[in-house]
Amino acid sequence: MEYGIPEDLIEEVRLRTDIVEIISEYLPLQRKGKNYLGLCPFHTEKTPSFTVTPEKQIFYCFGCHTGGNVFSFLMKRENWTFIETVRHLAQRSGVSLPERELSAGERKKRERRRRWEEIHEWTAAYFQEVLLEKAEGEAGRNYLLSRGLDEQAMRAFRLGYAPARWDGLVKTLSARGVSSSEMVEAGLGLETDHSGVQGVRVYDRFRNRVIFSILDSGQRVIAFGGRVLDDSLPKYLNSPETEFFSKGHHLYGMNRAHQGIRERGYALLVEGYMDVIAMQKAGYANAVASLGTALTKDQAKLLRRYTTKVMIGYDADAAGVQASLRAGEILRNAGFSVYILSWPDAKDPDEFVRKQGSEKIRQVIDAARTFIEFKYSILSGDSVPHTIPEKAELIAKLAPDIIKVVSPVEREGYERFLSLELGLTLEAVQSEILRQEQKKPKNGRENENSRLGQDISVKNRDNIIRYVQPEPVVPMGIYRAEMVLLRLMLEYPPFVSRFEKLLTAQAFKVMEHQEIYRRLKSGDSLSQADLPENIQGKLAAIMVDEIELTHPEQLFEDSVRRLKAGQTEEDIAELQERLIMLEKSGDLAGAMVLLREIGERLRRGE
Ligand code: GTP
Ligand code: MN
Repeated sequence: MEYGIPEDLIEEVRLRTDIVEIISEYLPLQRKGKNYLGLCPFHTEKTPSFTVTPEKQIFYCFGCHTGGNVFSFLMKRENWTFIETVRHLAQRSGVSLPERELSAGERKKRERRRRWEEIHEWTAAYFQEVLLEKAEGEAGRNYLLSRGLDEQAMRAFRLGYAPARWDGLVKTLSARGVSSSEMVEAGLGLETDHSGVQGVRVYDRFRNRVIFSILDSGQRVIAFGGRVLDDSLPKYLNSPETEFFSKGHHLYGMNRAHQGIRERGYALLVEGYMDVIAMQKAGYANAVASLGTALTKDQAKLLRRYTTKVMIGYDADAAGVQASLRAGEILRNAGFSVYILSWPDAKDPDEFVRKQGSEKIRQVIDAARTFIEFKYSILSGDSVPHTIPEKAELIAKLAPDIIKVVSPVEREGYERFLSLELGLTLEAVQSEILRQEQKKPKNGRENENSRLGQDISVKNRDNIIRYVQPEPVVPMGIYRAEMVLLRLMLEYPPFVSRFEKLLTAQAFKVMEHQEIYRRLKSGDSLSQADLPENIQGKLAAIMVDEIELTHPEQLFEDSVRRLKAGQTEEDIAELQERLIMLEKSGDLAGAMVLLREIGERLRRGE
């Protein structure tokens, strides 16, 4: 009772709380084997070294060496006392603690919220019951069946049906003791203009529609969307804005997607409710949709808790293209890398899955275009401009997007892409983009969330542009082998001298890996806090990586073999040199092939 809260209740709060879930609300975490990695919120870094281990329910930053459990995280992050932290987590996880004195206002609001949630839950249950069990739900059932959803799916997605009556929900809720004004406040009932007509003051907002229950990531029902069964208008009717629900702050599908996004490493943004259901059913639990409006900044912020990568898979029509451009803009400004999908021979993802089957989604994802490639194809309208002013205009229009790209390698990739597409020299494209860049006022720091340093690219008036040390791109297999080798050396030091006899430090293609190896070889400490940040990050990644170490000998030999083989493989730098040669010799077709190869490797090396 040291804190005024019984120990067993504190323990219960701890058991019911998932550290990954809590920390994800503060920063995006990427799954890495048993652990999750992210950018440390307690110091500035560009390479993630902040690690969360759900198994042990702890976090640790290899950069600033801050660590602890979920309580210490929140105390540090929110500046809360231990008691405040326990109270906060208890409320989230549904553990009731002895009441603290709340202000009258706080208590009222909390009561209202609880009541609002309860009413929404009853409402969802009612719509579901009508759909699945009542005769008057048959129209809804048939409609959903015709769209390929079976009963199991109807249950799983908490679909429902609002019957063609004025008082279905109103009666159900009032039988539970919900007052008319509560129904109106929750946005579920509407007031009649003629009060007093047959004593009825409130009637159902949702009538004769299939109902999509909208859940938040805590699985609470917070709103509804209702779709007509035919072509009448409006096609959808959604819950109105209320004290506790604002559509611009939520995304449909989030109740599953918060997990799905972490597992897949990116979010899949689609347009409609049916698209979310189709994709989630097909195994893409990372699918979400905005709630009947264009994507908002707040929705982007919500996604940012879980990932830094979004694939947009909007409808194939002109409206979908425009919406993709807008959403892409918002997402890129929020620090996401954005890709655009296209659904061959289908108007939207739902139709695509029904026509082609879920196995084909993989191909669509693999063929994702970057936002800039997509925008280029829209701007050029499928026909390459042939006059010089048109070309310059096109580059100027794309320049703002290219300027935002932080990785120099990627930027040069886009510049080369444009030079090939437009038949201009790389230098011309670069200087045009630079001209646009210099026009831009320098105040905007749009990329403050991005991972790679802008400081890598050095602009120089005479020399157009020069990149200091572009990060070389290492094939994934080699990258992994390097990590495995270093991990082995860290765990079993004799491997260091064994390796020394077989290969040189240059065998490590990742610069940081090379440095770690050098330090291991010379016996320099790797645990000091003043290690360069990039080294710390890579070290953290190696240490927390889930590597099966039961057969170290085998692992060592395999990895050494992989590095030896890699030395003979062409690396990206060589490919790029060849690319320049091809360009100069005018073999644009050959250059395009190579460019694609480079793109592929860049992608795999991510
Ligand atoms: P289906 O036609 O059943 O495949 O529906 P859909 O969800 O694919 O619809 P559509 O692509 O036409 O619209 C995408 C999303 O925009 C919907 O899921 C709704 O969230 C929203 N929306 C569409 N029509 C309306 C409308 O009339 N009113 C409101 N408020 N939202 C709409
Ligand atoms: Mn649709």
